Amino acid sequence: MKIVVSVGGSVAVPSIDSARVAAYAGMFEELVAAGHDLGVVVGGGPTARRYIEAGRDLGANEIELDQLGIGATRLNARLLAGALGDRATSSPPSDHDAAREAMRRGSIPVMGGTAPGHTTDAVATALAEHTGADLLVFATSVAGVYDGDPDEDTTATRFDELTPKELIEVIADIEMTAGSNAPVDLLAAKLLQRSGLRAVVVDGTDPDAVARAVEGAHDGTDIAPER
Ligand code: UTP
Repeated sequence: MKIVVSVGGSVAVPSIDSARVAAYAGMFEELVAAGHDLGVVVGGGPTARRYIEAGRDLGANEIELDQLGIGATRLNARLLAGALGDRATSSPPSDHDAAREAMRRGSIPVMGGTAPGHTTDAVATALAEHTGADLLVFATSVAGVYDGDPDEDTTATRFDELTPKELIEVIADIEMTAGSNAPVDLLAAKLLQRSGLRAVVVDGTDPDAVARAVEGAHDGTDIAPER
């Protein structure tokens, strides 16, 4: 299968140490060994958030804050690419053509962010669309898409399955400032709607959840196109 994985920085690099990055690299190597073609996009996590907070205190505008976030995502992408060694691109591709070319050569493109105004979820969704991926996995810090914020509302329940249209309704009211928190960003959901891609949102604190999603045995949220 051709698979694109959007890995939240808060799950791939929750703090700057090697353990989780190595676990992710090991899981990706197993997917490649099983014959899958892989593209990976890494988020900025707490590093992005801290830069964005400091920039906001200093009076930076939202585009400048997005650029700080992009810098952090690309730093995390370099860390993961380093762990993958020769299997991965040596620097994060800055556009989708370069990432697609890398996949065609049998290399794993490890991208970060690209341009202001969205998050790495949208970058990954566009990569999945551009490469005709069979599956897009969002590995996030929550175990799927909920009808509320599970960190703040104990009664929030997880959806087993949503159409892209339903996903858009769930996330439409979440604010879109730099560093904001949504299970999947709105542009990504819109791209999912037009592309007909199959996607899954899983808890990425355990990298094996991504492997289980590839096997179709996950307990997150399926985003399936309308039939
Ligand atoms: P992330 O992609 O890491 O956001 O981008 P996220 O998914 O909410 O966070 P984690 O990684 O799962 O914890 C961080 C910030 O960087 C900017 C945005 O401000 C975003 O909120 N960004 C990122 C862009 O502007 N463009 C991009 O392509 C990527």
